[in-house]
Amino acid sequence: MRQSDLTYQLLRNLTSPVVAITSEHNGKENGMISDAAVRASIVPSIPRVSVYIHKFNYSHSMIFESGRFGLHLLHTQQFDVVRRLGFISGRDRDKLAGLRYHRGVLGVPVLDDCLAHFECSVVNVMDTGSSTLFLGDVVAVGRGAATELEPRGDLLTATYFRANMPAEWRFEYEAKLQEAQKVAEEMSRQITPTVWKPQR
Ligand SMILES: Cc1cc2nc3c(=O)[nH]c(=O)nc-3n(C[C@H](O)[C@H](O)[C@H](O)COP(=O)(O)O)c2cc1C
Repeated sequence: MRQSDLTYQLLRNLTSPVVAITSEHNGKENGMISDAAVRASIVPSIPRVSVYIHKFNYSHSMIFESGRFGLHLLHTQQFDVVRRLGFISGRDRDKLAGLRYHRGVLGVPVLDDCLAHFECSVVNVMDTGSSTLFLGDVVAVGRGAATELEPRGDLLTATYFRANMPAEWRFEYEAKLQEAQKVAEEMSRQITPTVWKPQR
């Protein structure tokens, strides 16, 4: 195994649970998947999260321009949501159509089915070249509404998703990942310090 492959495999230990990131801008709603979201504050009175979003994803411009996003912890019965939001772009279709959701207090889509949701207002950003790290104040939270017909599973981790996704999805997943890695590689060294101006 090449050193770069070993490094990449070891870094996979630092991925986050699989989360659904939602956004709304100028009446358009969208959702995507990330496994790069973490708690970003230990202070109970100033709850924060951060998440890396690639610039070439449609969600990036929506979040950058609106200054808001929704973050959802998913459960192990939600592989379909990962495929729906994480395998194609919202530029091509309305990915939230067919999912049950409502607008939260910040106006971002809040998925009814999830383990938990966090509505976030962006307070700072960091440019990585290929992506932006969004730091968000958590403004509102809630638990997902599980029904008897749809009991929740356990927290969906990135490792669990990769190990258990249906075999027929894997080719598409790997191809999309490789394509994103190629574009990200070209962009990664062009870092431009960004001053965040609160949107509202
Ligand atoms: C398991 C998984 C993890 C992902 N993690 C990220 C991530 O951390 N950051 C990111 O920008 N895209 C990530 N993606 C890819 C986006 O979800 C995907 O490109 C999506 O189609 C973007 O949608 P959009 O163009 O509508 O914003 C991930 C996808 C999957 C399936």
